[in-house]
Amino acid sequence: MTTTDTDSGWMDRALELAARGRCGTSPNPMVGAVVLDAAGSLVGEGFHALFGGAHAEIVALDAAAERARGGTMYVTLEPCAHHGKTPPCTEAVVSAEILRVVVAMRDPNPEARGGIEDLRRQGVAVELCGAEVAKRAAALNRRWLRWTRARRPWVTLKAAVSLDGRIATRAGESHWITGEAARRRGHELREEHDAILVGVGTVLADNPRLTRRLGLNPVAGWRRVILDSRLRTPSESVVVRHNPEMTTIAHTAAAPAANRERLFGAGIRLLELETASERVDLHGLLAHLAGDGVAALLVEGGAAVHGSFADAGLVDEAVFFVAPMLLGGPAPSAVAGTGVAKLDLAHRFQFERVGRCGPDLELHAVTAGNGDVHGTG
Ligand SMILES: NC(=O)c1ccc[n+]([C@@H]2O[C@H](COP(=O)([O-])OP(=O)(O)OC[C@H]3O[C@@H](n4cnc5c(N)ncnc54)[C@H](OP(=O)(O)O)[C@@H]3O)[C@@H](O)[C@H]2O)c1
Repeated sequence: MTTTDTDSGWMDRALELAARGRCGTSPNPMVGAVVLDAAGSLVGEGFHALFGGAHAEIVALDAAAERARGGTMYVTLEPCAHHGKTPPCTEAVVSAEILRVVVAMRDPNPEARGGIEDLRRQGVAVELCGAEVAKRAAALNRRWLRWTRARRPWVTLKAAVSLDGRIATRAGESHWITGEAARRRGHELREEHDAILVGVGTVLADNPRLTRRLGLNPVAGWRRVILDSRLRTPSESVVVRHNPEMTTIAHTAAAPAANRERLFGAGIRLLELETASERVDLHGLLAHLAGDGVAALLVEGGAAVHGSFADAGLVDEAVFFVAPMLLGGPAPSAVAGTGVAKLDLAHRFQFERVGRCGPDLELHAVTAGNGDVHGTG
């Protein structure tokens, strides 16, 4: 048996539900599930809302209760077959006496996968959707997929720029280039990511708070990361004075002992990384953050930091808010670094979303090649 148009319709609904977990599931994936009874009527639906909380399948099965018997489940990711923070979903599916499960994509996580085979062994018919649906399911969870497969966080670079691509005036003023609506969208991005990163240049220029403020993401553990090779971050900066335990400063061996003692004494987490250059090694940093449960990292400037991420080919997504103004002159551009000499070597993206945001534009671009789906690696 293969999947039908009716199946696609129900999977659309499951994908819609999954997206509701955008703020709160990371570093778990977003998952949605729909349960039909034996006659094909909707009897339960649910999504994974919170890291460590109930999986989508369980929420949908609980809603369906005994009406699930003999029915069908649509789920956007292969049900887990392992004991993690919650018992295996495959057990719940079998004990609810679901007869058929339609899955949008396989789980690449070596610990969790195997649910499809497990269900089949127990007599449940399982169908995997075609490539088009699987691509949409993978796109929804691309941040989590990057973290799971590459063991580094998905990197989103966010900037507020003028029409001529500048992030500050020639005197360094950047508050505010964009309007309130764009700033609100910027804060929504923070709610979707696990950590925020800026360079010490931005700390010195703007003294930012780097907090989540909208209350959309109830998961604790939001982290601020500062790139600061020699630990120049002032003790009186907001990231040191307010909730220092949330702040990690990545530095190199060149950081003077006095600065280490000063910041360590203030309660900051210090992370010394080996580097071949004078600056913090981004690959080492990302590996460390990935191991610490950071699946999605928001990089909010400034120009030098954006440039280093671009030079290293480490930008997965760029979100630019463009204000209708020209700053001109030697004002810093959004991305400094070494740059490329040939167009052939440019870091290429695809525009995924382009929209108005109050008086400004909101541009979302994603690196090409993020559509890999049924791969289990
Ligand atoms: N419009 C916007 O969206 C926006 C957002 C943020 C900032 N800004 C503006 O951007 C300006 C600051 O930008 P900036 O370029 O001067 O500073 P930055 O990018 O915030 O910080 C750069 C500094 O970070 C340190 N660093 C450590 N490791 C690094 C690495 N691997 N790559 C790059 N830097 C590393 C370096 O100092 P050490 O060598 O001492 O470590 C470097 O000088 C300010 O005017 C601010 O207002 C605008």
